Amino acid sequence: MKIIITGGAGMVGAHAAEYFAGKGCSVLVYDNLMRSKIFDVDRKSVEFNWNYLRKFRNVIRVKADIRNRQKLQKVFGAFKPDAVIHAAGQPGVGFSLKVPLEDASINAVGTLNVVEAFREVNSRGTLIYCSTNKVYGDNVNDYPIARKKTRYVFRSIEGISESCSIDHCGHTPYGISKLAGDLYVQDAAYCSDLRTGVFRMSCIYGTRQFGFEDQGWIAWFAIRFMQGKPLTVYGDGKQVRDVLWVGDLVRAFDSFLTGRTGSGVFNMGGGPANTLSLLELISLLQEITGRSVKVRFDKWRKFDQKIYVSDIAKAQRTLRWSPLLSPREGVGRVVAWVNENAALFR
Ligand SMILES: NC(=O)c1ccc[n+]([C@@H]2O[C@H](COP(=O)([O-])OP(=O)(O)OC[C@H]3O[C@@H](n4cnc5c(N)ncnc54)[C@H](O)[C@@H]3O)[C@@H](O)[C@H]2O)c1
Repeated sequence: MKIIITGGAGMVGAHAAEYFAGKGCSVLVYDNLMRSKIFDVDRKSVEFNWNYLRKFRNVIRVKADIRNRQKLQKVFGAFKPDAVIHAAGQPGVGFSLKVPLEDASINAVGTLNVVEAFREVNSRGTLIYCSTNKVYGDNVNDYPIARKKTRYVFRSIEGISESCSIDHCGHTPYGISKLAGDLYVQDAAYCSDLRTGVFRMSCIYGTRQFGFEDQGWIAWFAIRFMQGKPLTVYGDGKQVRDVLWVGDLVRAFDSFLTGRTGSGVFNMGGGPANTLSLLELISLLQEITGRSVKVRFDKWRKFDQKIYVSDIAKAQRTLRWSPLLSPREGVGRVVAWVNENAALFR
């Protein structure tokens, strides 16, 4: 199989590239390495994954922007992919609030560019889109919750399903631009013959993730523990997310790409069995590392959800897939990777 992976220098894209290259697929990764600009950090973080992929002989790397239509058409035309995993994106809520037009140009228009470039060369191909739970916006806050000792819990549901409404609520520009991409991809299956999988992802974590306060909280907390530097928690720390090991996500991609299931939208995360609150992650890190760091509590940020847990029943049923790695094991692997690569975080 020939696969184009956009955002191949990012955490999700690089893991997907390694996985499919390992399966013997021909992989082309397409990334403009702008993550360092988005988060205003050293280029070495985004270059690390880019250089990591150099060792795979069946991975071609193209440094280019998904907003450059001509370049996309040229690359897609020459490679002629059977499948595309569209993981390139601007993933920060903060960036989207500061520069909403640029956020929209990448997540909304950039996604349409990828859909169109793919359709022009393979009108019956398969496309996976890395969408987000943020497409449900503030609607997820309508479900009643209770406050327990270390976490919030839903009172009447276990997780948010695909039937949650996507509109009549606040979103943030990031939620809107990702939703536009999500709808364009769904519509490509409606208006043409592309087979599309929209994966509405919750918190994905793994090795080679360069987390910051704005994005990638598990990696960010692990890095601060390794550095012995203080952490800021916004709110009371009882906010909960379901967490999914990136390797488990990539297996779900594989299941969609190689299976026969039709186009669809899938909530994708660790589900109710794999959740962590911030306070619980801090305790887990204390246990794993034998260290503690100073934790400073600050005001709630307007856009932080108290709890988001994905209902992954549809993905489990349709893709014959389930998460395998527990948060304890996964966080242990992240800590080990961060410690082995401490020089990257100086
Ligand atoms: N990691 C998560 O928890 C999570 C959760 C929900 C959704 N997502 C979505 O999944 C995708 C991948 O997430 P990630 O964690 O790997 O993020 P990431 O920032 O590590 O990777 C995204 C990659 O896209 C590249 N990129 C950005 N703009 C580009 C452009 N205009 N042209 C070409 N490349 C560009 C960046 O350089 C980066 O390497 C993103 O679209 C994100 O919105 C991620």
